[in-house]
Amino acid sequence: MPSLLRLVTLLAGASSTAALAIDHQLQDRKAAASVSTSTCRKTKVAVLGAGVAGVTAAQALANASVTEFLLVDRNDYLGGRVAHTTFGKKADGTPYTVELGANWVQGLGSPGGPENPIWTLAKRYGLNNTYSNYSSMLTYDQTGFVDYTDLMDTYDDAYDVAAADAGFLLTNNRQDTSARAGFSLAGYKPKKDMHAQAVEFWNWDWETAYAPEDCSFVFGITGDNLTFNQFSDENNYVWDQRGLNTFIYGEASTFLAANDSRLLLSSTVTNISYSNTGVTVLLEDGDCIEAEHAICTFSLGVLQNDVVTFEPELPRWKVDAIETFEMGTYTKIFMQFNETFWDEDVQFFLYADPQVRGYYPVWQSLDAPGFLEGSHILFVTVVGSESYRVEQQSDELTQAEAMAVLRSMFPNITVPEPEAFLYPRWSLEDWAFGSYSNWPVGMTLEKHQNLRANVERLWFAGEANSAEYFGFMHGAWFEGREVGQRVAAALNATSTKGKGGHHNSTQMTRYEVLHGTTDLKEYNFANGWPVSSFVDYADA
Ligand SMILES: Cc1cc2nc3c(=O)[nH]c(=O)nc-3n(C[C@H](O)[C@H](O)[C@H](O)COP(=O)(O)OP(=O)(O)OC[C@H]3O[C@@H](n4cnc5c(N)ncnc54)[C@H](O)[C@@H]3O)c2cc1C
Ligand SMILES: *[C@@H]1O[C@H](CO)[C@@H](O)[C@H](O)[C@H]1NC(C)=O
Ligand SMILES: *[C@@H]1O[C@H](CO)[C@@H](O)[C@H](O)[C@H]1NC(C)=O
Ligand SMILES: *[C@@H]1O[C@H](CO)[C@@H](O)[C@H](O)[C@H]1NC(C)=O
Ligand SMILES: *[C@@H]1O[C@H](CO)[C@@H](O)[C@H](O)[C@H]1NC(C)=O
Ligand SMILES: *[C@@H]1O[C@H](CO)[C@@H](O)[C@H](O)[C@H]1NC(C)=O
Ligand SMILES: *[C@@H]1O[C@H](CO)[C@@H](O)[C@H](O)[C@H]1NC(C)=O
Ligand SMILES: *[C@@H]1O[C@H](CO)[C@@H](O)[C@H](O)[C@H]1NC(C)=O
Ligand SMILES: *[C@@H]1O[C@H](CO)[C@@H](O)[C@H](O)[C@H]1NC(C)=O
Ligand SMILES: *[C@@H]1O[C@H](CO)[C@@H](O)[C@H](O)[C@H]1NC(C)=O
Ligand SMILES: *[C@@H]1O[C@H](CO)[C@@H](O)[C@H](O)[C@H]1NC(C)=O
Repeated sequence: MPSLLRLVTLLAGASSTAALAIDHQLQDRKAAASVSTSTCRKTKVAVLGAGVAGVTAAQALANASVTEFLLVDRNDYLGGRVAHTTFGKKADGTPYTVELGANWVQGLGSPGGPENPIWTLAKRYGLNNTYSNYSSMLTYDQTGFVDYTDLMDTYDDAYDVAAADAGFLLTNNRQDTSARAGFSLAGYKPKKDMHAQAVEFWNWDWETAYAPEDCSFVFGITGDNLTFNQFSDENNYVWDQRGLNTFIYGEASTFLAANDSRLLLSSTVTNISYSNTGVTVLLEDGDCIEAEHAICTFSLGVLQNDVVTFEPELPRWKVDAIETFEMGTYTKIFMQFNETFWDEDVQFFLYADPQVRGYYPVWQSLDAPGFLEGSHILFVTVVGSESYRVEQQSDELTQAEAMAVLRSMFPNITVPEPEAFLYPRWSLEDWAFGSYSNWPVGMTLEKHQNLRANVERLWFAGEANSAEYFGFMHGAWFEGREVGQRVAAALNATSTKGKGGHHNSTQMTRYEVLHGTTDLKEYNFANGWPVSSFVDYADA
């Protein structure tokens, strides 16, 4: 087919598809219009999601005397990814409580310095917690115990060089790279040395839920600095039997009554339509909410998986940010035995598999001093591609794989089968679609800001939106507070300007066009770019 004709045919095809799409949109509009908004519950602010970010946003509204809000969540509890369950049994036959999601307060605070707000709250509610001692660790491979802890020092030395290098790139506006490249440049190249890979996993992937190849060098290191250098380098593991979300219930009770009609649990949001005058939220059960503003705190995974339909579709600059940021998965696999066959004084056991990096690598004992002593509970954590693999397979298969690893770690011990076995499937939960976010190569600060920015009267908050503390509970807390305060200010601005009034200062910064680092002039012969209509070969 001659190219011109083909082009015309393609265009014709495209336009008929476009016409269909428009037709579809019109139908959707009619459907939306058919929801009689007069029957919707009316409120000033619809806070969507009752995890750390949502509860904190609602508290910020209440603190600003905005008491007309609804707090909506599809789960039947407060806390979202701060979630626990019962597991195994104690000597008296009652079960233990274990955390399926967030577990550590990461970076506490130092005298005179800033304090992690989650640490403030953990202390306020007296949550039982214990310092994770990363030196209380033994190393293993397929032959059993092998001491390769000297590689920890090698890694630490390279990390210091890499961290300074990342700091240089940031402050001098140099191009970002992957953490893999950054570590290699600093001299840490694990390649096929599986002990060195295990050490790198322990120090990097275990926190980010991604391999260094998948992580921004500058923002990965900055994120680590902002939490562990700013607050403190301590990680405290919460083993409180009331559950970690006790602090979320505690804070919620400062502004919600026990039977508060502003709290809508077990309510799934399916559609959000927004404009510069308000937001209408449809729930799965057919109910709807009409609000002046809405704050969406759904996880990055939920946004990436099109669980909720936005009307109109979110703009390209917003969708690009959502699709670029990464949602990682971190899976804790719990086992309770009838005895403690491992060293009961040790907190961690690191396994280096001979073939697969990250194969059942980090084992943690809850039997160690200061934790759930006498519990005989051990859990192993996998992340990233191993999480996806393990979460898609049966408990039986995962248990068999994990037990084979344990038996190779302890070849001279008859390791019994566990009496209780359990793990969550974060990558498959349709209210989370993963565990927490991670900053990939290719995400600039501006593109990340687009993840945060409001679209008309629809605002966004949540862990992933924190440029400083993405991935952490405290990231969700700071973002929830800021957006709650911004919406309170926007309501004030509206009330002084009348309905529909816009107060520009309340709008969040966004970048509708993001520029690369390569100027058009640089797409030239000297840069290896000869095939181009805008390069004159005679000049090259
Ligand atoms: C396995 C794991 C380990 C972690 N470890 C740590 C840790 O040790 N330390 C740490 O600081 N952080 C940790 N985190 C991260 C921490 O849990 C999160 O950063 C934080 O809890 C996120 O809070 P959020 O409010 O942003 O999101 P969420 O907690 O996800 O809250 C969003 C809420 O929206 C609701 N929702 C979603 N879709 C809908 C819908 N369609 N309709 C209605 N409601 C909906 C969800 O039910 C959820 O309650 C971990 C997370 C996981 C999963
Ligand atoms: C809600 O979203 C669904 C799924 O995309 C769509 O089919 C439906 O038309 C929407 N409902 C309204 C009232 O807009
Ligand atoms: C709301 O005010 C209380 C009391 O001053 C404070 O403890 C809490 O941190 C505030 N919440 C937010 C989100 O700012
Ligand atoms: C951490 O564990 C190591 C190794 O067992 C030990 O020497 C050290 O004293 C412990 N540190 C703390 C703070 O408990
Ligand atoms: C296991 O036993 C063998 C033979 O007794 C011994 O050589 C080996 O060191 C032991 N391994 C461990 C990990 O204790
Ligand atoms: C991280 O902190 C280290 C130590 O303070 C510093 O040298 C480095 O420049 C910081 N890097 C970044 C990217 O913030
Ligand atoms: C907290 O720890 C104390 C001391 O070990 C213990 O007695 C108490 O039962 C624990 N409480 C909870 C709720 O875990
Ligand atoms: C909620 O509880 C309070 C007392 O705790 C009571 O006075 C009030 O009537 C209750 N409201 C509803 C709607 O049940
Ligand atoms: C644990 O179970 C194994 C068999 O599965 C048994 O050999 C062992 O004696 C038991 N340990 C205790 C402390 O009961
Ligand atoms: C709203 O306006 C009132 C009156 O001007 C002011 O006192 C209050 O601080 C404002 N609140 C916010 C959140 O801006
Ligand atoms: C406020 O924003 C609108 C568009 O959003 C723009 O046209 C207008 O110039 C802005 N006003 C000020 C004072 O910045």
